[in-house]
Amino acid sequence: MKILYASSEVAPLIKTGGLADVAGSLPAALNHIGMDCRLIVPGYPQVLAKADNLQKVSELQVDGSTVTLLQGECGPHQVPMYVVDAPRWFDRPGNPYLTPEGYNWPDNADRFMLFCQVAVLVALDRAGLDWQPEVVHANDWQTGLIAPLLQPEEQRPATLFTIHNLAYQGLFDWATFLRLGLDKSLWTHHALEFHDQLSFIKGGIALSDRVNTVSPTYAEEIKTAEFGYGLEGLLQYRASHFSGVLNGIDYHQWDPLNDPHIDTPYSIDSFPAKRNNKLALQREFGLPEDEYIPLFGYVGRLVDQKGVDLILQVLPGLMDSGAQLVLLGSGDHSLQSALEKISNRYHSRVGITIGYDEGLSHRIEAGSDCFLMPSRFEPCGLNQMYSLRYGTVPIVRRTGGLADSVVDVTPHTLANGTATGFVFDNADGSSLWGAIEHAINFYRRSGSDWDILAMTGMQQDLSWEASAQHYLELYQTSIDDPGL
Ligand code: ADP
Ligand code: GLC
Repeated sequence: MKILYASSEVAPLIKTGGLADVAGSLPAALNHIGMDCRLIVPGYPQVLAKADNLQKVSELQVDGSTVTLLQGECGPHQVPMYVVDAPRWFDRPGNPYLTPEGYNWPDNADRFMLFCQVAVLVALDRAGLDWQPEVVHANDWQTGLIAPLLQPEEQRPATLFTIHNLAYQGLFDWATFLRLGLDKSLWTHHALEFHDQLSFIKGGIALSDRVNTVSPTYAEEIKTAEFGYGLEGLLQYRASHFSGVLNGIDYHQWDPLNDPHIDTPYSIDSFPAKRNNKLALQREFGLPEDEYIPLFGYVGRLVDQKGVDLILQVLPGLMDSGAQLVLLGSGDHSLQSALEKISNRYHSRVGITIGYDEGLSHRIEAGSDCFLMPSRFEPCGLNQMYSLRYGTVPIVRRTGGLADSVVDVTPHTLANGTATGFVFDNADGSSLWGAIEHAINFYRRSGSDWDILAMTGMQQDLSWEASAQHYLELYQTSIDDPGL
């Protein structure tokens, strides 16, 4: 099967979050089972610099812009990739969506409209590539216009749209809709119009043959007003064509036995060696080196979604308990400065790095005893899965993919050997504290049961194998039975 996988970021070339991890690994898993899956991504400077074997394959005129289409390979799996080289739109500093000062690029609508237009030309075999996909798999709002642009075309491939995070919708005003030159028929609440605004993500949800999100629980949650941001009605309407497929993780990038970033390799057969990574992590953060002090880790964007403020609330209690915390993240300035202030106060027990650091994120996964993920909502979440794979016990809120990937420690789950972490219900400091206290007591009192808990996590199948099969089924049904 021929699949065009459209994403605005892809690891290891350019990444702001988990979408990049998924785009960097799901296409590889699909190719591994015999598919012909090719990526299409914008030509940011990082992509042009890091992709392998880039060559010009065609030149296109799109709304007065000259676009060069490059072909190359991406990452360790060498996934075939088309790169939309349009310097006017993508050759910029900062990240894919923000200026170096942290503001949205004012022309984001135009930039991702162009990206969608080029993906559509490739999808229709009008880009001079002599290759036409049977399915276009679009991801998140930046690719939300692909399905609406394809819909009127007779020879169009089937379309699947994946929601990685409904909180980011790509909303713009009417003047932008006019400027983009979109067909006026799309300005209806059945298509792109959302409360008098242009919504990119709504286009993907309303006009793709199939829609999915990245965990079964989040698929249920976003059909409710609490999580649906006003799109719950549309998702309910599309329910028979909408599902949840839990992400996998890249076993090649995240393997404690073969991880160039960590101090000492280990596996379930050499679990005690994990301790060296803990001592190395304590050393790296200038904390007292002691293998018996419970060490908590956090890696992630510092935004409201992730519940970092809840971590701030429980920090004094955590410090009183004698535990240590290491945290890596970047994002909201207010959260950053609150964290920096607190780390000064508790400098002998808290280590904080503000920034983005791939290697350190691996060392935190390998060296911590517990990983904190108190998210308010979490479509899937990858870090709790990396934690499981690294024998680092996750503490998560029961929401989205966290609920689908971590089994709470209870007498029952301990007895039947399914427990993998600590799960709490309410998005408040006292619920989080309850789970942390439970973890600390278990850590201090359970002896070898802690290792069994951690190793149960390491034994979970978190690979892409099962989920890649699910995607294959979704592709096949959208070809056989278009949903529109
Ligand atoms: P989201 O996509 O909502 O940010 P995920 O858990 O799905 O959350 O994925 C986040 C990804 O980004 C993970 O691979 C995580 O390790 C990585 N990440 C987030 N923040 C940082 C950071 N400051 N440094 C290094 N990696 C980070
Ligand atoms: C989003 C979500 C995250 C998910 C990732 C990959 O960024 O916030 O929960 O794991 O996409 O699907």
